[in-house]
Amino acid sequence: MAVGIFDSGLGGLTVLDAVHKRLPDLPLVYMGDSAHAPYGVRDADDIYALTTKATERLFEAGCDLVILACNTASAAALRKMQDSWVPEGKRVLGVFVPLIEALTERQWGDNSPPREVATKHVALFATPATVRSRAFQRELAFRAIGVDVEAQACGGVVDAIEDADMILAEALVRSHVDALKRKMPEPDAAILGCTHYPLMAETFQDALGPEVKVFSQASLVAESLADYLDRRPEMVGPGQKSAFLTTGDPQRVSDRATQFLRRQITFEAA
Ligand code: DGL
Repeated sequence: MAVGIFDSGLGGLTVLDAVHKRLPDLPLVYMGDSAHAPYGVRDADDIYALTTKATERLFEAGCDLVILACNTASAAALRKMQDSWVPEGKRVLGVFVPLIEALTERQWGDNSPPREVATKHVALFATPATVRSRAFQRELAFRAIGVDVEAQACGGVVDAIEDADMILAEALVRSHVDALKRKMPEPDAAILGCTHYPLMAETFQDALGPEVKVFSQASLVAESLADYLDRRPEMVGPGQKSAFLTTGDPQRVSDRATQFLRRQITFEAA
């Protein structure tokens, strides 16, 4: 039994860590496509081709359910994958919906018409491809009315994190928050719409100020996965072993992952 977790690089480890804490006995196979990160500057066809290839690898590793722990892949590729690519008996889920359900105070699977919610001004921080896709605004519009969303494409942040250049990542986060605040001076809530960004959560919160509620995906996705597996236990696939796979240099990726998660993580070549 194993569930697959995919990201373009290291960001999905924030989701893996939360899932591991919530479901400690569940084997997880992580796949990071570090050789091709960042995805956020690629076009939708390219992101689709890379995401399907990586997902295929997770199916081979014994996963029947794969979580795209990457907003960019969820935004640019997930719908097309679900419509025409996912093989019978397999499931691929994204990371947008749990976040939007939390923001709009909905329970899982509440498909009632969109309604007014308490949060009115939302700052969205995401990669250029996620912002361009408008997937977040589309999913939100199915569930809430009267919410003003200002999106900031945070160029450079994923590259800096992948290179473990946290000084550059911090400077970039602060400048992207400044740029957002020039467009929306007083957001009620901020969405960290990229799974790399929880690694910079303190900087986002500090730059935004204590009055802004910052939503990040890791724990929301973990909770939603636990709920899903309760209802669909058969989706835990035949794989028995946890593993960390990368298309990048396993030693380099292991060092960075160990530094981010503060526990030994050993990647192998995908
Ligand atoms: N962690 C990915 C996301 O959630 C980063 C995408 C990228 O590689 O640019 O969007």
